[in-house]
Amino acid sequence: MTITEVGAPGLRVDWADQVRRLARERDAVVLAHNYQLPEIQDVAHHTGDSLALSRIAAAAEQSTIVFCGVHFMAETAKILAPEKTVLIPDAAAGCSLADSINAAELREWKAQHPGAVVVSYVNTTAEVKAETDVCCTSSNAVEVVASIPADREVLFLPDQFLGAHVRRITGRENLHVWAGECHVHAGINGAELTARAAEDPSAELFVHPECGCATSALYLAGAGAVEPERVKILSTGGMLDAARETKARSVLVATEVGMLHQLRRAAPEVDFRAVNDRASCHYMKMITPEKLLRALAEGRDEVHVDPDTAERARASVRRMIEIGRPGGGE
Ligand code: 13P
Ligand code: SF4
Repeated sequence: MTITEVGAPGLRVDWADQVRRLARERDAVVLAHNYQLPEIQDVAHHTGDSLALSRIAAAAEQSTIVFCGVHFMAETAKILAPEKTVLIPDAAAGCSLADSINAAELREWKAQHPGAVVVSYVNTTAEVKAETDVCCTSSNAVEVVASIPADREVLFLPDQFLGAHVRRITGRENLHVWAGECHVHAGINGAELTARAAEDPSAELFVHPECGCATSALYLAGAGAVEPERVKILSTGGMLDAARETKARSVLVATEVGMLHQLRRAAPEVDFRAVNDRASCHYMKMITPEKLLRALAEGRDEVHVDPDTAERARASVRRMIEIGRPGGGE
């Protein structure tokens, strides 16, 4: 087996065969997030959004999980399945959003709001999850917050745009939001979205709630520039469900560009276009075909979570996978 074979188009099948064979030999399931490179999405046993992949990891029968995504996702799988070996093809694949709050900062915030319920987005470190009451993903954040008694204060972290979306939908004023952001989604701005929507007024808009332009999308709808039913604020998994149902001929997509691969596969007759075609997450793209093969061949990089931290984080992650309907790749 030579890893350089991956670059030659005629040998790509060999690479996929090797991945599947090594996965079988290692008793491994390969999971890929919707932002992964197309060839990794295609070879994975399951491709999906953060919530779907967490649920699949928790229920996996195999003894090894190879997580093609970023580090917090693999860590979440390890928290849910501590007896399994969890591998990530490159442990340096981080997340700017998860880096926007640490456990000490969260403890300080909690001290300022005694009795508040802490809701953390899954894009956080295991240490932050250990300080959390319930985790959520973009596909169930609204349901998670709605499940908390209305008179309880909520600390929502770390994404300010997702927090604003949840506050808008729930109408909850006792929801405090941490001022973090994902550099990829924050960079998809309202001006670009407005310009793209003006070029194609009949297009639908699929907007991830982590985007800086989510508010602009709703403003466009409110101002009559786009029909309100054409604007959909969705998780990556929700975008796939919407793609299968849409009657539109073209859809403008505001999220990381890796998403376009699954959308085009789900609805080849629809013209999916990125609102910002530079919105690529370099952390997600650190997972290459070569590194996936190496992970399976050499059993690296193994993900470890301190058992005490994992124990304290587990309840919040389990509550996350219990809330919200199945979808997004399950
Ligand atoms: P979802 O797959 O849950 O929509 O998350 C998107 C994301 O940014 C993950 O990093
Ligand atoms: Fe993190 Fe943003 Fe990359 Fe998602 S797209 S992994 S939130 S940096």
